[in-house]
Amino acid sequence: MSEEQTTPKLYEPPEEFASNANVSDPAVYEEAERDYKSFWAERARELHWFREWDEVLQWNPPEAKWFVGGKTNVAYNCLDYQIEQGRGDKVALVWEGDEPSDGTTYTYSELLAEVEKFANVLKSLGAEKGKPVSIYLPMIPELPVAMLACARIGAPHSIVFGAFSASALRDRINDCEATILVTADAAPRGGRKTPLKQNADEALEDAPSIENVVVVRRTGDDVPMQDGRDRYYDELMADAEESCPAEEMDSEDLLFILYSSGSTGKPKGIVHTTGGYLTQVNATTKWTMDLKDEDVYWCTADIGWITGHSYLVYGPLSAGGTSVQFEGTPAYPASDRWWDVIEKHKVTILYTAPTAIRSFMKGGTEDLEKHDLSSLRLLGTVGEPINPRAWEWYHENVGGGRCPIVDTWWQTETGGHMITPLPGITPTKPGSATRPFPGIEAGLFDEEGNEIEGEGSGNLVIKKPWPGMLRTLYKDPERYRETYWEKYGDVYFVGDGARRDEDGYYWITGRIDDVMNVSGHRISTAEVESALVGHPAVAESAVIGRADEDKGQAIVAYVILEGDREGSDELIQELNGQVRKVIGAHARPQEIIFTPDLPKTRSGKIMRRILRGVAEGQQDLGDTSTLADPSVVDALKESRAAN
Ligand code: WTA
Repeated sequence: MSEEQTTPKLYEPPEEFASNANVSDPAVYEEAERDYKSFWAERARELHWFREWDEVLQWNPPEAKWFVGGKTNVAYNCLDYQIEQGRGDKVALVWEGDEPSDGTTYTYSELLAEVEKFANVLKSLGAEKGKPVSIYLPMIPELPVAMLACARIGAPHSIVFGAFSASALRDRINDCEATILVTADAAPRGGRKTPLKQNADEALEDAPSIENVVVVRRTGDDVPMQDGRDRYYDELMADAEESCPAEEMDSEDLLFILYSSGSTGKPKGIVHTTGGYLTQVNATTKWTMDLKDEDVYWCTADIGWITGHSYLVYGPLSAGGTSVQFEGTPAYPASDRWWDVIEKHKVTILYTAPTAIRSFMKGGTEDLEKHDLSSLRLLGTVGEPINPRAWEWYHENVGGGRCPIVDTWWQTETGGHMITPLPGITPTKPGSATRPFPGIEAGLFDEEGNEIEGEGSGNLVIKKPWPGMLRTLYKDPERYRETYWEKYGDVYFVGDGARRDEDGYYWITGRIDDVMNVSGHRISTAEVESALVGHPAVAESAVIGRADEDKGQAIVAYVILEGDREGSDELIQELNGQVRKVIGAHARPQEIIFTPDLPKTRSGKIMRRILRGVAEGQQDLGDTSTLADPSVVDALKESRAAN
């Protein structure tokens, strides 16, 4: 029996936590259910608006407009409005560098000063409202500064995670036709360096929209600077005007684009707008993460992903919090680095991913015991299902048995938390994200399009619009409709499977499409396949995610070679290099299996279920009768054994 099948233990919110929590009255659920628009409008009123909205929601499926007619500015909310409330000298950002000796802090006033100056720099380089700016930076303070500067002037940002390759960067620039790229000389992480400027130069060979490049000197490495195009950040900042008023943005103006993997090879440009997005990340930061003035809050995600956008920058700053930004890795310079960071900064709230917890579990508790973690009061997880054993370990060893855990289910598309406990109210069951956040209505459908009532398993959907929802896919409204709103009519199709138990709690079982979740990173099988077939030795390839104890899923690639090419260790290296070059190191397959054939149906569709079964060493591969050539299964097993 797997650990998930035993009766789950129930953890009530600790009394002391509940009595001090930002929300502790369970009536919030019923209130929100009675009138979700008023519920969200009340949350929106906690923000600063230059002009209040005329209408809370206009819903013409699949098009949503929230807080219609309202005028606000996200950077103003994250900075000026906090200062107006007396937080000018409060630390907004704690930056911890890759080397433990490297770090700094910014108060709200200091951060505002940087943001205003950089907003002026961007303007001087031609940035303006509605024109996307691409950002490809390490986890340094200039990254939130650049984001907030964009938000201040209304230029949508498109942040590309620093581990993405030159070609992935190029595709993302070309899709949104950015005219400015903000990057750095290099990105130090875990004692090593990623040559960001070099990657950027390579990307720009074929990204004609870019006119100006701003280069932050992070490592001081000597990098080539192209005359007339490339300028150093510090030099531009030295000459920049100090004051830059915040643009009055319409609630539905574009705030950012963030590319995410879909079930085809082409990444989706997920579009988030201003008022609704900010309302949801602000409310969930206060309700789910229970963020208060005294807290030191650490979200370990990279800002290049949605978790960093929403819960390292916009959520905590708009709530007046102190947010920790860490540049490094858990294992550098030693395996106790995270616990060192928590002790050093007296972190009170930790928000991280199950994959990290599982890797710490393997190392035992020795590293934890070296540090005082008594400042912690709340723990969170995100990115993939957390197995109950990892949950218990996190609770016991990191949280000292006293900290509630919020297992937050959401997506790049949803902008903010959707299914999650409220730590002062919701009893938790290890492994379950529990109930939808107030104002959110979830549901389950079967493949035939029938809604499942009560207990059961099916495809997860969201039944009502919510403020942080994606508004479209950049310049591709048709794909937006097809991907999310076609399968079951006017409900949002999530792409995850889930089970609902007798208490109405949701247990997310993982993606039901061709998207893999590797250490909490979304990677599509099609993206990796198309990278592999770009190598001249590869005729065809099929990629699957195999269940993996550490990473959630590990990438396995089946490869058919061209003509009489033979598989070898060198070729495996080359193919790995190819994936690194086209996508990035995080998408490299863990296993490459050379095979003479792939399991296909008579209509030519690859049966991934069988590939997954073979890769996981399953004895019973289920029904193989729909295969055009059932003998392929034995050939696959042999290929794998030969590996
Ligand atoms: C998965 C990350 C189970 C899910 C915020 C979703 C989760 C995808 C959880 C989105 C969770 C995220 N429990 N699964 N708590 N959180 N997922 O867009 O499959 O990078 O669809 O957003 O991660 O990944 P994305």
